[in-house]
Amino acid sequence: MQIQVIPRDHSGLSALNGQDPGFGNFFSDHMLVREWSGNAWGDARIVARGPLEVEPSALGIHYGQSVFEGLKAYQGTQDDAIRLFRPDQNAARLEASCLRLCIPPVRTDEFIECIRELILVDAAWVPKRRGHALYIRPLVFATEGHLAVRPSSRYQFVITTAPVAPYFSANSRALRLKAEARFTRAAIGGTGSAKTSGNYAATLRPMVAAAAEGFDQILWLDARDHAFAEEAGQMNIFFRIGDEVVTPELSGTILPGVTRDSVLTLLDVWGIATATRRVSMSELAQASRSGELVEIFGAGTAAVVAPVASIRHLDEEISTTPVEGPSLAERLRETLLGIQHGEIEDPYNWVCSVS
Ligand code: COI
Repeated sequence: MQIQVIPRDHSGLSALNGQDPGFGNFFSDHMLVREWSGNAWGDARIVARGPLEVEPSALGIHYGQSVFEGLKAYQGTQDDAIRLFRPDQNAARLEASCLRLCIPPVRTDEFIECIRELILVDAAWVPKRRGHALYIRPLVFATEGHLAVRPSSRYQFVITTAPVAPYFSANSRALRLKAEARFTRAAIGGTGSAKTSGNYAATLRPMVAAAAEGFDQILWLDARDHAFAEEAGQMNIFFRIGDEVVTPELSGTILPGVTRDSVLTLLDVWGIATATRRVSMSELAQASRSGELVEIFGAGTAAVVAPVASIRHLDEEISTTPVEGPSLAERLRETLLGIQHGEIEDPYNWVCSVS
């Protein structure tokens, strides 16, 4: 694979002007594009970010044959290095998503090389501020124009990047979730474990309703019984019950989060008992009533680690009874950011330097 770079004339970086970037309000100067036309991925081009020309009957827009990823590039706070966090895991998940949606996968080494080259070209866009990062959004979608419901013969692989603060930084308080008892996000045998666009579209209507009721996010429940916690849409969910941290098992309906996996590793190393299993709402309600529900937090690339104060389930408010001292959510967040920004040792080989 060759990567051709056609740089933009003038950078748009000054528009950012030191403001808080939020999440998705600004995009960097360049994008990477690469086409699949029949039997192989072609060479890649890094060009000025701009509109894509899309065939109006593109199968990706009509029938949702589209998958994406999310990872971040972090500026070292004690050196000049720019680091990626476990990009091989995003490559593996993209491959799994592609296979589920009949999309030709992108090779791991080429996925990482494309990202590295793009970050080098837009290195000035990587925020200097700790906790902020350049969010990387790889997308693969079907571009062939056709009306038959079948896999496309053509695809585009596009990577855009955006300077971001953590997803929930606007709310410095812990989040309030609504356990969604009517709509569902994913069912066994569906596409819940793939990072595919339709999964997110399905969450919009209930999310809008939950926001109007004053909630920050939805906690999705299992599709069969509406009785077990699954994930929070933009993040995986963790419950600290007594001495144990529990997170729903990867049953096929939950996105296998890279941060989720990293959190489980860190907790294991710290000697904190973890369990990946089904977690029922009645167990959570009981733990809340008895005071054993010590913490709830979400974990994801965009969200990092976000504390949750309470979950509304039907008529019941499930809330935490924090213990003295720093929360696990805070400790996990600080450790992950420390590794990502190159401040503390990375015994797991999670980070790799771009430059
Ligand atoms: C991520 O954490 O990278 C995500 O993809 C969540 C996003 C939909 C905001």
